[in-house]
Order: sequence, then structure tokens, then C-alpha cells
Amino acid sequence: MALIRLKSVTIGVPDVKGVAAYYSDFGLTQTTADSATSVSFATLEGGEQLTLQATPLRRLLGIALEADNEEHLVRLSTDPTVLRFTREPEPTLVLRDPGAGVEVTITVGAEGLHGRILGRTPVERTVNTRAAEVLRTQRPRPLRLGHVVMGSPDHEASMSFFTRIGFKVSDYIKDVGAFLRCSIDHHNLLVQRAPVAFLHHTSWEVNDADDVGRAASAMLEEDPNRHGWGFGRHLIGSNYFWYLRDPAGNMTEYFADMDEIVDDALWSPEVFSGKNALAVWGPPAPASFLRPDDLAELMQGSH
Ligand SMILES: [Fe+2]
Repeated sequence: MALIRLKSVTIGVPDVKGVAAYYSDFGLTQTTADSATSVSFATLEGGEQLTLQATPLRRLLGIALEADNEEHLVRLSTDPTVLRFTREPEPTLVLRDPGAGVEVTITVGAEGLHGRILGRTPVERTVNTRAAEVLRTQRPRPLRLGHVVMGSPDHEASMSFFTRIGFKVSDYIKDVGAFLRCSIDHHNLLVQRAPVAFLHHTSWEVNDADDVGRAASAMLEEDPNRHGWGFGRHLIGSNYFWYLRDPAGNMTEYFADMDEIVDDALWSPEVFSGKNALAVWGPPAPASFLRPDDLAELMQGSH
């Protein structure tokens, strides 16, 4: 009985149409009709994984998870954070993180390892011929949603909630928060200490480091103001990254090659701190990465 997948994310934004255009450029496929109130998107391999809904200020409204068995939902159904538990048409448990107010929906998914175990594309060294990576012409599109990073004004309450419902701790950043997983990915969720509940970023997997570079470059060619932070490689999770910013202020990360934890007994969480905790290489992280420019506005709006 366990969680097995981060299934989708729901984000509130003031201008659904404007933000929807960004996510189409980002490489997601719109699955619902154009609308000013709600639009959904799919990835290549993960199904429908993003919904935008109209809200006065940008915010993380909800995440959806899958468990491998209905028993997991039944066991959690007496938790004080439960909003509702329905059996039809499919078992669905909805809870609310008491720290950040995010709605968490858990359904039952297909068994199996979620993540891209052994899915990494081996780099084939070629001789007497140009490398295949530089001959790619198609714009990369996200394979699946990888993780969500959120700020919580009550970090202890959020951590207690997410570990209680089945997330496991992979690593910590001192004084910032904990990287949590609900699959074999090193992290599917990071809860940061923050003065207000907010969405820091969503992260979307592409095939490899070349596709991280190519996808982000294509986005910046269309609008250089989208740049957030990158290109670099994280220490925690080991993934290559490039962060861009959507028109509402939410960051979106293209990533590749994240560590995968298949045997929990073989992984020991560590506590990281200092500059290296963010990246092993890459440009320095801009101040707005650590503390979004609109934080004061979000704090005001939350009262
Ligand atoms: Fe990330």
C-alpha cells in the first residue's frame, strides 16, 4: 500500500488565456476547449497533468496523486484533513494540506514503477559522423510532470501531512525544507518554508540534457523575458535544469536525468546547506529564484 505517482497539478492564475498560450509553447497539449475559466493540458506520456483555473492571484490549488491500492485511501479516510471520500465512479479521497491549504486528491492507479527507470537515453559516442543530438529538429515536448515545489507558511503542518499520506523524505536543505517522493523519482514534491502559501515551480521531464537546452532555448527565442535560471545541474536529485517563468509568475522547469530510488533501504537522506545545495554547476541563482518578486503582493492578497 503506497503512493505511486504524482498525477497532475492544478494552478490558479488571473489570466487563464494568456498563461495557457505559454504552456502550449512550453510543449504541453491542450485537452479542453479554449476558456477564460479553466483549461487542461497533457504531456506525451503522463496523460492530462495540468489544469489552469481562474483565480485573483496566482496560487497552487491542488495536486493529484495515485496510490497502488484502494486500501491506502481507506486507511487515510479517517485523517482529520479529509474533505471527502467517494467510492463511485472510482475511489477518490480528497484532503487538504493544513499548512498551505492545497487540495490533495488521491485515486488508485495502475501498479508498476512510475518514473523513467532505465529510461535514460544512453549517449552513443559516434565517430566519423555528426552526433545525433545536434541533428534533432523537432522541438522537445515534456514527457511527464516530475515535481511540484511549494511554499508553506506552516512548514511543520505541511510536512506532517505529506509524510502521513505516504510521501517519503529523500533529502533536506537546511532551514529551507525537504524533498519528498511518492514514486521512484528522487523528488515529486518540495515543501519550502515561506511567509505565504505559493507555487514556486512545476517541473517537466524531457528526454535528456540536450532536450533541456533545446526546449528552453526555443522558449527564450520567442520571449527572452521568460528566463528564470539555468542551464545547470542540481546536486539534490542530480537533474539537469533550466527554469522559465510563465506570465503569472510561476516558474516551470525542464529537467532530465533525475536520480531514481527503487529500493528505499539503499537510500539515506542527507541534509544539505550552502551554495552547493542548489547546483553543482551553472550560473548563480538569481535572487528572484529564491524569493519570487511578487511575494509581497501574494502575502497581501492572502489576508
Ligand atoms: Fe525543480
